Amino acid sequence: MSGKLLQFIGAISRLVERPGLTQQETLDQASGHMRALVAEDDWLPKSMARPDPQYYQQHLLYGDPLDRFSLVSFVWGPGQATPVHDHTVWGVIGMLRGAEQEIPYSRDADGRLRQDGPARVLTPGSVACVAPSIGDIHAVSNAVEGQVSISIHLYGGNIGRIRRSVYDRETGQAKPFISGYSNVLCPNLWAREA
Ligand code: FE2
Repeated sequence: MSGKLLQFIGAISRLVERPGLTQQETLDQASGHMRALVAEDDWLPKSMARPDPQYYQQHLLYGDPLDRFSLVSFVWGPGQATPVHDHTVWGVIGMLRGAEQEIPYSRDADGRLRQDGPARVLTPGSVACVAPSIGDIHAVSNAVEGQVSISIHLYGGNIGRIRRSVYDRETGQAKPFISGYSNVLCPNLWAREA
């Protein structure tokens, strides 16, 4: 494992052990570490940067044994995009290579989705957060035509096996989903059913 990645995982392991932090304090601290991690694009192993011609990839870089956090290399092929989805835990996204566009959504009282603010484009070195308390529903896409983009995602749980939702853009109807990880193909500690 590269020194930078190991240093980041050590810092987050220490962060999640600190008692009494608010979620916002955790996000602020984690964002600082993420900013340092994506400041330079020289540490991501090639195997964790591999795109797929059809699907965006979620390569698990590290899964905390106590499920307090997980770290994912999110690899976008050209034209790839997520459905509208939520996370249910806090998350910090750092852009490493290329660019991605994020459209935030919220749900009205009647359950319908509405865009909640302008679309944002993340460029290398920039960091964004999601969490149920600050806005947790969005749709994300590769913002660079004809190229691969990569962002690094840190989540406050084992995101690959958390039961969360995707939403129908028209009706706002939620459908349960579990994302899994692209590089964890057999059942193990990190891929097991919740
Ligand atoms: Fe997301």
